[in-house]
Amino acid sequence: MGRAPSLAIGGVRARGTRPLEEGVPFLEIDESNSKILCRVPAFSKPAEGSDWRAVTEFTLQNMNNANIPAFGLGSFRLKGQTVIDSVKTALELGYRLVDTAQIYGNEAEVGQAIAESGVPRDKLFVTTKIWTENLAADKLAASLKTSLSKLRTGQVDLTLIHWPSPGGAVPVAEFMGALAAAQDEGLTRLIGVSNFNIALLQEAIAAVGAQRIASHQIELHPSLQNRKVVEFTSAQGIHTTSYMTLGYGKALQEPVIQAIAAQTGATPAQVTLAWAMQKGLAVIPSSTKRANLQSNLAATQLKLQPEDMARIDALDRGERLVNPEGLAPRWD
Ligand SMILES: NC(=O)c1ccc[n+]([C@@H]2O[C@H](COP(=O)([O-])OP(=O)(O)OC[C@H]3O[C@@H](n4cnc5c(N)ncnc54)[C@H](OP(=O)(O)O)[C@@H]3O)[C@@H](O)[C@H]2O)c1
Repeated sequence: MGRAPSLAIGGVRARGTRPLEEGVPFLEIDESNSKILCRVPAFSKPAEGSDWRAVTEFTLQNMNNANIPAFGLGSFRLKGQTVIDSVKTALELGYRLVDTAQIYGNEAEVGQAIAESGVPRDKLFVTTKIWTENLAADKLAASLKTSLSKLRTGQVDLTLIHWPSPGGAVPVAEFMGALAAAQDEGLTRLIGVSNFNIALLQEAIAAVGAQRIASHQIELHPSLQNRKVVEFTSAQGIHTTSYMTLGYGKALQEPVIQAIAAQTGATPAQVTLAWAMQKGLAVIPSSTKRANLQSNLAATQLKLQPEDMARIDALDRGERLVNPEGLAPRWD
């Protein structure tokens, strides 16, 4: 290990390679992908007046010292009262990260749900994404300000470039420069990208430096594991967030996952989410149902055996579910 990791757990900063404080079940350091996983125990609804941060599940910290929660809530396709209910229920259950995007058309409802939840803003991690129409240097920051106003916040925690510019119309260096400038302006605490292949990541890194890029969000589930991209990203000290970890429900039908679920007494969704988190990936499953939101959150408590991890690893068949024409770069 080149240097001792510095971790923030439940608001306590600590250094070391083993359980840092009583009650922390484990701390894993995966040197190969520069990720540090730590788990904090409490997962029930916090007692009145307790520190909300104490139930912020576990955090991934990369070598660039950017912390992102390993577990959060997705909001793609959810609109109106449905998204308000999903976000409010999730926050009540203990979720602390909400992922939205300009194109989802639900930033205002997400902002409303957060405001009505009673969870202080500084205990939350809010991610949004810049749509392709707003990538030009003279549009990006203004569009992010509109997002902030809809989300009722002065700053988001993470802003991602949602997709690279179609046909390269806006050069990577231009939108990454504009995103970095928006960060300098204080509109976003962290910046990152989404749906970039290795060549595009290299361009983004050349533009602003790997240190500046906190996270890369990509389609990743048992039947599309995107290994080359994850390896490259990890080697740069950048987090990977898996989107559609459940394959929009498809992963739950995999016989191997169902068998592991039966054998461990977990649900197929918990097994799938635990598999991804155990690989050092952050996850952002969405759900409109309280029971699913609650049981998905409990995936952070599940530890899979190495042989079960290997059985899920073997399900990779490059099956891409998200491939919008004219927008999606080819995966490596
Ligand atoms: N960056 C990008 O380009 C991009 C693209 C796609 C998605 N995303 C982000 O990633 C998030 C996750 O992806 P996703 O929402 O498309 O798909 P997902 O999380 O893989 O799957 C959501 C689907 O799974 C079902 N589900 C959830 N928990 C379940 C459980 N315990 N048992 C059975 N079914 C369950 C949900 O139905 P119920 O409502 O019935 O529970 C919903 O139909 C999105 O919401 C979005 O924030 C980003």
